[in-house]
Amino acid sequence: MSIATKVFARGMATSAVRMAAIKNVTVIGGGLMGAGIAQVAAQTGHSVIIVDQTQEILKQSRASIEKSVSRVSKKKFKEDANAGMEFVKKTISRITINTNAEESVKEADLVIEAIVENLDVKKELFGRLDKVAKPSTIFASNTSSLPITDIASSVERRDKFGGLHFFNPVPVMKLVEIVDDHIKNKGGILKVAITQRTDLSAAPARQHYMSFLDEEKGRRSNKQRTQREKNVMDELQELRRKKRRIETDMDELLKSANSDDTYNSLMSFSEALGKTPVTCKDTPGFIVNRLLVPYLVEAVRLVERGDASPRDVDVAMKLGAGYPMGPFELLDYVGLDTTKFIMDGWHEKFPDNPLFNTSEKINKLVEEGKFGVKTGEGFYSYRK
Ligand SMILES: NC(=O)c1ccc[n+]([C@@H]2O[C@H](COP(=O)([O-])OP(=O)(O)OC[C@H]3O[C@@H](n4cnc5c(N)ncnc54)[C@H](O)[C@@H]3O)[C@@H](O)[C@H]2O)c1
Repeated sequence: MSIATKVFARGMATSAVRMAAIKNVTVIGGGLMGAGIAQVAAQTGHSVIIVDQTQEILKQSRASIEKSVSRVSKKKFKEDANAGMEFVKKTISRITINTNAEESVKEADLVIEAIVENLDVKKELFGRLDKVAKPSTIFASNTSSLPITDIASSVERRDKFGGLHFFNPVPVMKLVEIVDDHIKNKGGILKVAITQRTDLSAAPARQHYMSFLDEEKGRRSNKQRTQREKNVMDELQELRRKKRRIETDMDELLKSANSDDTYNSLMSFSEALGKTPVTCKDTPGFIVNRLLVPYLVEAVRLVERGDASPRDVDVAMKLGAGYPMGPFELLDYVGLDTTKFIMDGWHEKFPDNPLFNTSEKINKLVEEGKFGVKTGEGFYSYRK
């Protein structure tokens, strides 16, 4: 084994010892995504608490989970109805519901947030939970479009905060994106680089000071010498202040970085759910939406220009690119309001990127309340 491999293996072993398996999961938000996440977590043996604003919403979540688990069991236990019933019973028994978020996170190993896509509301929630959850509890957000770093800014445990981005429908979709800053090492390298740079800039100043002492000895009046000396000392002090400021910034950056244990726990948890995790930086849209959303809006622009009809674009992408759904079918399924919300957010942040320009057609449909499948009409009509 090479030295590097040994060091790596030792690091992994220590990390595995420190990293306790996630057993108790609290899912905040029992809507479309929260219910799906709670379902797969319970199906795979985790104890789950779902939190939402009212008992009515929570009862609806539980009812939709029961229906969905029954569907899963019929597929999974085709030949054995009794085993299927046992699977449903056990899964449901692992889920409890509660309207009190603070009370529900006290025993949690992992808190997954799947509430409304609003930065202030998410920050407020995590800020509150940070005060009552165990120090070891990991926090994760299922946000689709908000920066994880911004959401995590309201908590102290920034090293225990990551993105866990599931896909709809959660019980079916295999992918989980783990949004992990992992800038620890990068931060370390940057810190060394900055320290070196400030030391280098300090060196000529110091040299300058020494030569000044040599040159000026006895040549000028004490008053002049004191002034020059003061200037050089000020210069040195300013450099030291600059270095301290940079070091404080770096410490902040490192504090906000995700720790390896958090990352490893999120990876293991995703695998325990039977999902395939991929890792990415805290970049707008992560991987899937960063590529998918501009593609969807580009399809709308193509239709806006009169180059083809939505139906023909959908057929083309299904038969020509092998996609299971065309972009207009997918837009209606995801919801035009959601797509508009994501694009508007990106456009506001990156106004010069033409890929993030919003579409007039989408804006108009949203204004008319035509959000897609959920409202009965979007690019297509779903009314019977
Ligand atoms: N819908 C998708 O396809 C999809 C995919 C991936 C990620 N997401 C993200 O998941 C999150 C949830 O999306 P969704 O589609 O499930 O929304 P949803 O509207 O179906 O559910 C959100 C739930 O959160 C509850 N809620 C709102 N504020 C709350 C609070 N302060 N405390 C407790 N509960 C609260 C609401 O009552 C609602 O039941 C969003 O951040 C969204 O961006 C959505």
